[in-house]
Amino acid sequence: MPYAHITGWGISVPEPVLTNDDLAKMVDTNDQWIRERTGIRERHIAREDQFPSTLGVEASLKALEVANLAPTDIDLIICTSSSPEYIWPPTACLIQDQIGATKAGAFDIQAVCTGFIFATNMAAQSIRSGAIKNALIIGTETLSRFMNWKDRSTCILFGDGAGAFVLQASDKPGGILSAVMHSDGSGADTLILPGGGARFPANETTVHENKHFVQMDGKAVFRFATRVMGYAAKEALDLAGMTTDDVQWIVPHQANYRIIETAAKYLKMPMDKFVINVERYGNTSTASIPIATVEAVQKGMIKNGDKIVLVGFGGGLTWGALVAEWTGPIPSPKLHVRPTRYRLFARIRSWLLRAVRYIEGVLSRREL
Ligand code: UT7
Repeated sequence: MPYAHITGWGISVPEPVLTNDDLAKMVDTNDQWIRERTGIRERHIAREDQFPSTLGVEASLKALEVANLAPTDIDLIICTSSSPEYIWPPTACLIQDQIGATKAGAFDIQAVCTGFIFATNMAAQSIRSGAIKNALIIGTETLSRFMNWKDRSTCILFGDGAGAFVLQASDKPGGILSAVMHSDGSGADTLILPGGGARFPANETTVHENKHFVQMDGKAVFRFATRVMGYAAKEALDLAGMTTDDVQWIVPHQANYRIIETAAKYLKMPMDKFVINVERYGNTSTASIPIATVEAVQKGMIKNGDKIVLVGFGGGLTWGALVAEWTGPIPSPKLHVRPTRYRLFARIRSWLLRAVRYIEGVLSRREL
């Protein structure tokens, strides 16, 4: 049975930064409160012309470059987002088109902030089954579009960004070693974006009632998160036949420093084994785990051979964890692939397909 290795990684974070002091000019809050209660100092906010697909494409191309893999070699794309470009079509398809992943099946997974864990596990299972060889997983957010910038209890928490992994099949042991996924829909209303779906289709009332903004029972989510984070990490380690002593790094969902501290206490692990960057990005939902992982790799913290645990929680309610052995790109004698070069080809291909569809439409109208 092949193993599913993480062989490529990339992130994309919009440049504009919103500091706590900036927020204090918008709502009744202050830097000290935000830092003490959450650990957040600043977050990045997407420009008007940046969307989940824009950030997702940039992160994906970087991940493919690290893996030295052409977009045309990808079999499967799974995107996960709490702020998808549309209800449908899937953001994954928009990314598939823009990077020129001509043979990939592409779809979205919705598991809110736990989405990246679920998506990585699903892609790894497809590789382990032998069904596919190369997968691209993306967590991408422009959650700032769904914030009520007058609600201090939510708008201080979230930020925008994207992260991507390439997963590849290999006979060499390593890669994703175990994973656990959990859900509790009885807590669906504790963290919810209620408007725009079939229950509350967009209309004047839903706009008036702020139903198109993220709504959250912060305390309930906090209690839930502190209960499940450490437990899920331990469960995934048990499944892999490992203990916390075998692990070099834990990469938790970056929602709140205090939640991570509680998980560390539960696992009886020092805080310096946890990768934490919540102070600079806030909570980037599905993108938070890959952004933290990629930064840790780029800083030389996570090295080849390290065992790591990725652990997340979020709306749904959902939570999960996975254990991986970090192995890096698969060595190959292949020439250096430049995935960005496929963008021009992807644009022309996309344009041609649209043109053919248009001509087909005109011709079929004539036939009728
Ligand atoms: O991906 C998952 C996403 N969600 C989460 O992870 C959220 C989990 N929850 C949390 O992180 C915390 O519950 C929050 C950071 C959201 C809130 O922290 P808290 O310690 O639970 O604060 P609180 O809601 O109990 O509020 C304490 C006080 C209240 O004032 P009173 O009633 O004590 O006078 C709030 O009105 O702080 C007030 N408050 C604020 N003050 C300044 C609430 N938000 C703010 C604010 N600035 N932004």
